[in-house]
Amino acid sequence: MIQLLDRTFVPFIDKKTIDNRLVELANELQTFYQETPVKVLVVLNGSAVFATDLLRLLPTNFQMDFVKVKSYENLASSGKVKELIGLSQSVSGCEVLILEDIVDTGLTIDGLLKDLKEQNPSGIAVCSLLFKPEAFQGKELPKFIGFSIPNKFVVGYGLDYNEYGRNLKEIYQLKEL
Ligand code: IMP
Ligand code: MG
Repeated sequence: MIQLLDRTFVPFIDKKTIDNRLVELANELQTFYQETPVKVLVVLNGSAVFATDLLRLLPTNFQMDFVKVKSYENLASSGKVKELIGLSQSVSGCEVLILEDIVDTGLTIDGLLKDLKEQNPSGIAVCSLLFKPEAFQGKELPKFIGFSIPNKFVVGYGLDYNEYGRNLKEIYQLKEL
């Protein structure tokens, strides 16, 4: 068990299971993209750990760029608007692969896809290490998924609880009170 601030977390997905799944995911990605140049957009901060491990299993046609999501209240709608920031070059005409740590409600990914599609990429897909099907309300399912997990809060391997726990080697789940 591990304590972060006021919460206790229990081991959930161990390093070996993560490593094995990354090898499989890398194979799926290579099979799908073959030799095509792919612009991989790593969504910071959460995806940094997953992305650097995954990208080192992939050949050099997979390029790496880092982006962030800015969240703000839109006066016209009730929810938060998610805007992509930090893209170093336009993705017009590119094959784009978004790497996410987790797709929960799916709202972040919807915002990113909307912003990127305006630049007319030749193709766009999402690869998420974790996916919570019970929480998902988005428009498009991630094309590549590491693990589908129950709707419980998780930390580690890039994911945080109030910025703590990103550097844990394994994934932990919130312990029920
Ligand atoms: P979504 O927009 O609801 O899909 O959530 C996206 C973001 O919420 C993720 O990129 C994470 O930063 C955060 N998030 C969602 N679920 C979890 C979790 O279980 N642990 C840590 N962060 C989470
Ligand atoms: Mg994230």
